[in-house]
Amino acid sequence: MALLEIQDLHTFYGNIEALKGISLAVEEGEIVALLGSNGAGKTTTLRTISGLERARSGSVKLAGRELTRTRAHDIVAFGLSHVPEGRRIFSNLTIEENLNLGAYLFRRQMKILKGRRDTVYEIFPRLLERRTQLAGTLSGGEQQMLAIGRAMMVEPRVLALDEPSMGLAPILVRQIFAIIEEIRRRGTAILLVEQNARQALRLADRGYVLETGRIVLQDKADALAKDPRVRAAYLGGEPEVEEAQDPQTKN
Ligand SMILES: Nc1ncnc2c1ncn2[C@@H]1O[C@H](COP(=O)(O)OP(=O)(O)OP(=O)(O)O)[C@@H](O)[C@H]1O
Ligand SMILES: [Mg+2]
Repeated sequence: MALLEIQDLHTFYGNIEALKGISLAVEEGEIVALLGSNGAGKTTTLRTISGLERARSGSVKLAGRELTRTRAHDIVAFGLSHVPEGRRIFSNLTIEENLNLGAYLFRRQMKILKGRRDTVYEIFPRLLERRTQLAGTLSGGEQQMLAIGRAMMVEPRVLALDEPSMGLAPILVRQIFAIIEEIRRRGTAILLVEQNARQALRLADRGYVLETGRIVLQDKADALAKDPRVRAAYLGGEPEVEEAQDPQTKN
């Protein structure tokens, strides 16, 4: 049994069927990429998994526990944390206050709160330096770090990230991807929605490609990165860029 197991999930907006039977799994310790073009249903998948949309049918199981009838805040408490598109942080609260809200259940247990904040600050030293700064004055990359840090305050078993690199400069994109790797190293499995398919597939163990509400491809990440259909649709049709070669070694 996978840590997170989604079977034949159907989600509607009114009469529109946005998810037409999605099945996917995330194993303990894995990074799984969910790719697809605009409107494919990536966000709807994450929102349904985390209880923000109701599935019409299908099942979502976290460590064997059925979640499709569970309320969103209970799903978080069971260990599935979701960082939505567009970083919903509280602009007029400080970094530290935002983090504390991430572990609302422990709001009266100062020791637990502090322990969890310390872990987040270890992963994101930048947040520690700025912990009394109002979140609204942080740069885009720092706000994304805070959004991920807040989601980590519940010590999730699975972290679902919706386009964490969106709108960030390349150097920050690399930092965010390094952080995702570090979070996995610390024992949280990751379901990663990304438009940045090339980098997502470099980081991920496996991936799924979603098209108009259906999974059309699934494989190991390196196999997907080589797949001509993935290349054509998501990698700009370009061959993988090789590291620049030293002319001396090039026969
Ligand atoms: N609240 C809503 N009401 C009605 N239709 C919606 C709603 N949210 C999403 N949809 C529709 O559901 C489909 C899937 O949308 P979704 O946001 O899941 O796509 P996505 O893969 O995340 O796209 P993007 O890459 O643009 O973020 C789209 O056709 C979208 O228009
Ligand atoms: Mg989306």
